[in-house]
Amino acid sequence: MQQTTQMGVNRTGAQMSPIDTETMERYAENMGPDSGIDDMNVPAESQPAADMRAQYIDAADPVGSVPLPGTLKGAMSTTVDKLTGNRPEVLIDKLGERLAFERTGTRLYELMIAKCKEMDTSAVDPDVLGTLMHFHDEEAEHFAMVDETMRAIGADPTAVTPCADVAGVTAMGVLQTIADPRTNFAQCLNALLTAEMTDNAGWELLIKLATETGHTEMAQKFQQALTEEEQHMATIRQWLERAVITEAT
Ligand SMILES: [Fe+2]
Repeated sequence: MQQTTQMGVNRTGAQMSPIDTETMERYAENMGPDSGIDDMNVPAESQPAADMRAQYIDAADPVGSVPLPGTLKGAMSTTVDKLTGNRPEVLIDKLGERLAFERTGTRLYELMIAKCKEMDTSAVDPDVLGTLMHFHDEEAEHFAMVDETMRAIGADPTAVTPCADVAGVTAMGVLQTIADPRTNFAQCLNALLTAEMTDNAGWELLIKLATETGHTEMAQKFQQALTEEEQHMATIRQWLERAVITEAT
């Protein structure tokens, strides 16, 4: 597999055909933007795409719902939360999101390990595979921890919550990047960094949410996951820097 960036025949740039570029620019100028945000004074009917988007937004249903508690324990803890003025569905939704994300994280590292077995990554770190394996195991542990936490409050970890659904869609590009057999080590690290940065912010938010809603024990338990995720993010960022700078110099 080709690991380094090469110069070659790439026809995607405008400079490849100045005459066609001129025609394209003239066409774009005549058509104008159709995003609906460039000129708020332009009536929607003269921006058909923006108009259509607005109609869909107005008519759209939300992305799923948080399931009602299926167990007596869940019903009890939901009632207690409701009585204290909290909306437990928000916490359950975000727990569902972290669960989905950690599952995806485990899969990302599996893909990354498979790819790195076919590459020489020793210039970046002598033990890339060992470290990736370690991070993989921690993602799986985090998944198990969230699963256990959800069961402890009577929530169903097998249900896809709205935020879990959205996080899955958002992560699709990262998965596609790493699964693509053509992407090299640095490109995969770039995608992994996107996931790890989001993951870190997700744990930080979840810890704040658990604290604010009176689940201090839960927040303390999650702090350990955040510490490990910070290490993942720092390592991936450092590897990416090394991989790119080594290639360039
Ligand atoms: Fe991670």
